[in-house]
Amino acid sequence: MKRLDRLYMGTNTKMYKTISDTTAFLSRLDQLTADIPADHLELFVIPSYTSLESASRTVAGGRIRVGAQNMGWEDEGQFTGEISPVMLQEIGVNLAMIGHSERRHVFGETDRQEEKKVAKAISSGFTALLCIGETAEDKAYGLSDETLRAQLKIGLHSITAEQAANLWIAYEPVWAIGVNGVPADEQYADERHRVIKETLSELFGPETGLDIPVLYGGSVNPENAPLLIQMPHIDGLFIGRSAWDADRFNAIIRTVLPLFGSRKNAASPQSGSCKSQKEEIR
Ligand code: 13P
Repeated sequence: MKRLDRLYMGTNTKMYKTISDTTAFLSRLDQLTADIPADHLELFVIPSYTSLESASRTVAGGRIRVGAQNMGWEDEGQFTGEISPVMLQEIGVNLAMIGHSERRHVFGETDRQEEKKVAKAISSGFTALLCIGETAEDKAYGLSDETLRAQLKIGLHSITAEQAANLWIAYEPVWAIGVNGVPADEQYADERHRVIKETLSELFGPETGLDIPVLYGGSVNPENAPLLIQMPHIDGLFIGRSAWDADRFNAIIRTVLPLFGSRKNAASPQSGSCKSQKEEIR
């Protein structure tokens, strides 16, 4: 049984999809997933900056949460190219992804910068989705866990246990992401998730630490999603390419939701078991 009540499923559309593409995608995804109870699934989409305002309007009052792909650490200032929390709040966005692998490895962001962004996001009332992951080189040297622990300890340095209630983590090994990525196998991913959860417990205490959702990302596809989601330490999936078609994303959600053994499923007399929840959702 998983500790968390809900399955977390999200997609980052990276530098893909225009405003109209994003609106169409969200409308379709909203329609396809409308019957899934909100307390079973946290569904989020992180589109490009230019589409955020219309995306936010498209999902208003619905079940999908929209987030920003990055966020500056000040309300305003001489930070050309950055978007501030005030600007995001103005358009109804309160979820910010921080430290995505491509921000770190293509644009050179550092753990210290991610620390400032996470602190600013959470103190401004956002949910911060901190992305971490080791490179292929870290892995080859047997340093994966050290890298993950360092990214967490620096990135979350300013966060208190109370603030950690507004924190989500995505584990995305750099070598697993994108067109040249090789998906992590489920045992490897689960072992890293276990280390991440252990580190979060060390930082915030076990009660708070184990309640922070930890999602896996990196070449998730319809074949590996069911294997990953059944692992004990994986609370959700953060998907790129395989989720950019709403019907395909919905199909993955429908496959994994009944396999996710949450505390709620185990406790609830209505849903009783994964099987009855599956029937209920179909
Ligand atoms: P892919 O699923 O395309 O590998 O991308 C994952 C990702 O970067 C999500 O943030």
